[in-house]
Amino acid sequence: MTESAVATKAAPNRLLALWSSVIGKKVVMALTGAILVGFVIAHMVGNIKIFNGPVEINAYSRFLREVGYPELGYGQLLWIVRIVLLISVVLHITAATQLTIMNRKARPIGYESKKDVETTWAALTMRWGGVLLAVFIVFHLFHFTAGMVGFQPGQFEHLMVYQNVVAGFQVVPIALFYILAMCALCLHLDHGIWSGLQTLGWVTTDNTKSLRTISRLIAIVIFAGFISVPISVLAGWVR
Ligand code: HEM
Repeated sequence: MTESAVATKAAPNRLLALWSSVIGKKVVMALTGAILVGFVIAHMVGNIKIFNGPVEINAYSRFLREVGYPELGYGQLLWIVRIVLLISVVLHITAATQLTIMNRKARPIGYESKKDVETTWAALTMRWGGVLLAVFIVFHLFHFTAGMVGFQPGQFEHLMVYQNVVAGFQVVPIALFYILAMCALCLHLDHGIWSGLQTLGWVTTDNTKSLRTISRLIAIVIFAGFISVPISVLAGWVR
């Protein structure tokens, strides 16, 4: 076998070996998590355009479909982003599930120290918060992207984001479900961003405190930005 053939055979093997290891899965979680955090920040910033009125946010929704045109077809860049997001979500959930299973198998049975209790609380909120978020995303796509749930017949109109959001959050249980899901998102980001930074080796003894505060602040700003929309509709400030 030639040297280059050995190299091309070794590369996928190395990737596979990395994926099989605990650290490899954590790196996959950190990198896909970073992509997803980038998306939620962009989405939250897009959502608060609702406070500038229907013209601006509806134009933004059209822009998301038209960006890249004519080099790319209508909506093509959006589809590329959707595919990257879908791959990231699948890899993130798969790595998280496999890590949980590996963790359970390796856990020694012994007494619980204070640190164990803290770790268990973080693990529990990450796991069950993550499950709630996955349910939320599926519901959310049927709701505001497809208009298939939560609307009267004929009420949902494609690209009329302002009108859809106002009508969608008139249904109080749905608005409350969004707020609950955003609480789960906030907890998930608070711990997740911090864990990701640790996995990527960015945390040192000097910056521990500031990076912990920064990850918490990012989670709180994203939370506040997202919940401001359902709260404003419920309060009648946006109508
Ligand atoms: C209060 C919180 C939220 C509101 C009001 C909201 C609102 C919306 C609206 C109106 C759309 C449709 C946009 C359009 O068709 O142009 C949308 C799409 C979407 N949202 Fe949200 N969203 C919220 C939170 C989230 C969160 C936390 C996530 C992810 C973790 C998320 C993920 C998505 C995705 C993946 C799409 C589909 C984008 C596409 O492919 O067209 N949203 N959202």
